[in-house]
Amino acid sequence: MIRRKLSVISGFLALSVITLIQVSCKSGTPSDLSGEHIIPVPVSVVATGDYFRLDEKTAICISDGSDELRQLAEYLAERLRPATGFAFAVKTTKVPPKGSIYLTFAGADSIPLEEGYTVTITKKLLTLAAKSPAGIFRGIQTIRQLLPSGIELSSVQQGEWKIATGTIVDYPVYGYRSTMLDVARHFFGVEDVKRVIDLASAYKINALHLHLSDDQGWRIEIKSWPNLTLYGGSTKVGGGDGGYFTQEQYSEIVRYADSRYITIVPEIDMPGHTNAALASYAELNCNGRATKLYTGTVVGFSTLCTGKEITYRFVDDVVREISALTTGPYFHIGGDESHATKKEDYIPFVERVQDIVLSHNKKSLGWDEISLGLLRPGTVAQYWSSAENAKRAVSQGAKLLMSPSSKAYIDMKYDSTTAIGYTWAGYIEIDKAYNWDPATLVPGIVRDNIFGVEAPLWTETITNIREIEFMIFPRLPAIAEIGWSPARLRNWDDFKVRLGNHGKRFEAMGINYYKSALVPWAD
Ligand code: ACM
Repeated sequence: MIRRKLSVISGFLALSVITLIQVSCKSGTPSDLSGEHIIPVPVSVVATGDYFRLDEKTAICISDGSDELRQLAEYLAERLRPATGFAFAVKTTKVPPKGSIYLTFAGADSIPLEEGYTVTITKKLLTLAAKSPAGIFRGIQTIRQLLPSGIELSSVQQGEWKIATGTIVDYPVYGYRSTMLDVARHFFGVEDVKRVIDLASAYKINALHLHLSDDQGWRIEIKSWPNLTLYGGSTKVGGGDGGYFTQEQYSEIVRYADSRYITIVPEIDMPGHTNAALASYAELNCNGRATKLYTGTVVGFSTLCTGKEITYRFVDDVVREISALTTGPYFHIGGDESHATKKEDYIPFVERVQDIVLSHNKKSLGWDEISLGLLRPGTVAQYWSSAENAKRAVSQGAKLLMSPSSKAYIDMKYDSTTAIGYTWAGYIEIDKAYNWDPATLVPGIVRDNIFGVEAPLWTETITNIREIEFMIFPRLPAIAEIGWSPARLRNWDDFKVRLGNHGKRFEAMGINYYKSALVPWAD
């Protein structure tokens, strides 16, 4: 590790130190902030050529005693303590002592956007300033990346902990940067979801869309319709035990996500993709007969009976119960691939369901097909496949969440050797996941029409957290950069070098990642 080597070189070898620093600038040294490998790339980095050092006396100081700032300071301390072995006491003070890290809401007025932050590093002080707690949280992710990758290890490491001096000013292009986990095709428990939250938040992702129901399984307890989980949640793709979140567990996920400034967006897919519900309650079927549980992967055969009033009582109960547990403003109503629903039934259904969502004080998100209906104010359409649907949404004044399946579907295989994943939207190597711009991808759709970006992970072929990690990494960091960093700063040749320097970081975080041959992974 270059940083450790530097630390043992004594003063009278100053000349060779200077040479070493110059030589290693390209790979990022503690004294060249502009050479650091930050993902997503920040808006502005100005280096001042020195370094700040963490040691056993470094405190994390906060400018006011608010609980939220204190929790953020504790969160930062928890990231830094294991590998350094230092105490990182958290203190409230207006005047931070020399050598400390200072988190403050002061002096950040000029930073645009809630999630923006500045990190100012001098030899004496590291100051992280933001308008909001979310901005402080995003800035902490940058600070983690300014330290050697060993900072992510859970046991004490030898060596010095230096951060190059200078100033970073940073804020996102899009206010919504998301990933989706399908817990319906295969179920993943609370600990797995928390791991996804931690890993995604390290790359400044700020929303997690949970696909909670599909033909193969219903994964969230609804107290007024208990068979949904007791029966509808009992299996999964390929058969065998399914699983579901109790409401307490779902709330635990929401709380955990809130602590990482990630919004949980629950999805109940309807009127198609509903076999698990149709198998659980006969009355939701037009013929009054419950369907059989389904463990295959074909799509488009199921539909709620859109002409029956009981269907809307069901939807109202489900939206009400889940909305009451959800702190974020969005409820995802699905709406994709409803091939078994007649268009004349689909349209009024989607319109009425949006009204139900509004009546529970949430706004709707839905796959791009929902633009067939009238979109209510505030509804966001998620572009995944049809440019025509997306443009119809825009023509109604709706914003688009951009998840083009050929670029952003991270359940696609990387190449022909990938053991898991699908290929229907093509192979998605890391360069393909990176090389697109939401604001120019679809003719007629421009920056102003775009709400954000999302990388969905469908799980027909994915059965455990190691496989989730393999599909997410490194494509999620690539899409996170598309969502956060200005297009003028995004460049594949630069990104692949920065990404190559994250390999060791992924390993230190215990991430099972895809070691793409396109990336120069650093030793
Ligand atoms: C989808 O991939 N069916 C939204």
